[in-house]
Amino acid sequence: MSAKKAKRYTVTAALPYANGPVHIGHLAGVYVPADIFTRFKRSKGDDVVFVCGSDEHGVPITIRAKKEGITPQEVVDKYHFIIKEAFRDFGISFDIYSRTSSETHAKTAAEYFKNLYEKGIFSEQVSEQYYDEENKQFLADRYITGTCPKCQKEGAYGDQCEACGSTLSATELIDPKSAISGNKPVMKETKHWYLPLDKFEPWLKEWILEGHKEWKSNVYGQCKSWLDAGLMPRAVTRDLDWGVPVPVKDAEGKVLYVWFDAPIGYISATKDWASENGKDWETYWKDEETELVHFIGKDNIVFHCIIFPSMLKADGSYILPENVPANEFLNLEGNKISTSRNWAVWLHEYLEDLPGKQDVLRYMLCANAPETKDNDFTWKDFQARNNSELVAIFGNFVNRAAVLTNKYYGGEVPALGELTDFDKEVLETLRNLPGKVAKSIEAYRFREALAHMMDAARLGNKYLADTEPWKLIKTDEQRVKTIMNISLQIVANLSVLAEPFLPFTSEKLAKMLALPELKWEDAGRSDLVAEGTKIGKAELLFEKIEDSVVEKQLQKLEDTKKANELANAPALPQKEETTFDDFMKMDLRIGRIVEAEKVKKSKKLLKLRVDTGMDVRTVMSGIAQYYEPDEVIGQKVTLLANLAPRKIMGVESQGMILMAEDKDGTLAFLFPEKDVSEGSTIS
Ligand code: 2FM
Ligand code: ZN
Repeated sequence: MSAKKAKRYTVTAALPYANGPVHIGHLAGVYVPADIFTRFKRSKGDDVVFVCGSDEHGVPITIRAKKEGITPQEVVDKYHFIIKEAFRDFGISFDIYSRTSSETHAKTAAEYFKNLYEKGIFSEQVSEQYYDEENKQFLADRYITGTCPKCQKEGAYGDQCEACGSTLSATELIDPKSAISGNKPVMKETKHWYLPLDKFEPWLKEWILEGHKEWKSNVYGQCKSWLDAGLMPRAVTRDLDWGVPVPVKDAEGKVLYVWFDAPIGYISATKDWASENGKDWETYWKDEETELVHFIGKDNIVFHCIIFPSMLKADGSYILPENVPANEFLNLEGNKISTSRNWAVWLHEYLEDLPGKQDVLRYMLCANAPETKDNDFTWKDFQARNNSELVAIFGNFVNRAAVLTNKYYGGEVPALGELTDFDKEVLETLRNLPGKVAKSIEAYRFREALAHMMDAARLGNKYLADTEPWKLIKTDEQRVKTIMNISLQIVANLSVLAEPFLPFTSEKLAKMLALPELKWEDAGRSDLVAEGTKIGKAELLFEKIEDSVVEKQLQKLEDTKKANELANAPALPQKEETTFDDFMKMDLRIGRIVEAEKVKKSKKLLKLRVDTGMDVRTVMSGIAQYYEPDEVIGQKVTLLANLAPRKIMGVESQGMILMAEDKDGTLAFLFPEKDVSEGSTIS
């Protein structure tokens, strides 16, 4: 099937789960490429709707809510807005950023299910699933833990063992427990509705394996291996109290499976956008002239290439995706990005640390995008690309063109004189660049497209270096006018060519050159800036990133690593058994520190005077690295009062203050939960 000559696009970007903020992996894998594609199509004058939103259903959100003692709705409310803002801040130009807890969505998803149900598409199957009798609920796989049958480690989930990475089914777990009550779950029958993927298999094989050989090889390959292995019916409902209720009789306590309702979220978002903008949503989903393109990460391939298309096909009135340009994963400094281990560069934190540098990150993530294989993000690479590409090539060229025009001509664009052969050659190269960028974007090769865009800046830099207007200005002013005019035309071209990739920078260029609104078809022309136009000052587009900035980011990651190691470090083994009598020999009491001073020649010790209720006595304590004398005065403490007196640094210590020691050696006082008087005993 050859690509249709459609001028209308529905572009979707995977709906992120609203149970955490978004990070650079999300941006590189999905949202930057989707945004480049969309901005490019808009610049070409095509009719595009770019939709996204938060994916607010699913078991992980309910688990998070339980853990934090809040409702699932509260969880998604919190993250929906954080995510929405981060996308806006990075210039991801969605026409709508919606959410699957919206009313439109509940209605759309329910109707979608109902329609397929009434058409008799689903099969009903009764199966046995784990059930928590105390809480009277069926347990999703994530809600069951037990011993992994493969590696024998405890704490494996009903769908996966995180210790050895095996995929499991809940019934395989040894000694299963409900994560809600801790009880052993029982098996109980439950009815669910299944999408018979097996019946769609022959059609899918034809449509993808024969009809879409042009899909990216990672996408095509994954589809092929799913289809070769053979498809089975998939349950599209779950026993859960969070989600879109199953809209048929006898379905109390059941909701649509999150992966059934999430892609319908694209449709609901389009509906809301259309009604807010006087459009007809169906044009974007049902008209054969519209091309549907899904941008996703590789873990979503089966849902977007096999399951959702089967749902669309089952309905029969929808168009099917023309392409699903999925990316692989981005790693961070050699390790897999992980939300739970906080191994990520969070978008909102990036902007706090590097304000105004949205385009630098967009550039870096596109230049280094995991288009065909997993890739690594490193801060060193980030610095190098910024300094040697954005600053040294792009920024340097634009800066020289603007500075020289301001210097020689008071900022007025000089007239173009007679062209040399070299000028003609440069302009010819310029004319050909937009076609190259476009061709790469059309083929979803965004890294290549970005490199072609940068060729325009390289061309400009080389042009100035070869013509050396700063030397000619003394001897051939006429020639310099032409050189500067051509240079400014290249800058204007950059503004158009860079817009999909670096929208903030493109806007600065347009402002600097007082450009009218330009479209993609204008790119390549050498008359974009009119003679006599007054240009603005050379704005600083990119600045050098110093080593200290990189070091700070690396330190942050180092700290995360340490915190993770500590959190995972095992507790110290228990000491050998003691007796009650031995314990009772100890006289433990509450005391209060009344004086404290440093001890000369000791880094560790503080000399304390402690009111024990019986007396005020001297106690030497090794807490000086954690507390200043001033801050401990008045502190209630636990004291071993009858410890035999010992001389420490020449001072007699009469007792010992008890301290809790964390895995990293941090010390903390032990004192009663409510106030009790000095001398209170402990037993
Ligand atoms: O993998 C994810 O983050 C899913 N929330 C993506 C959903 S995409 C679409 F189907 F909604
Ligand atoms: Zn295991």
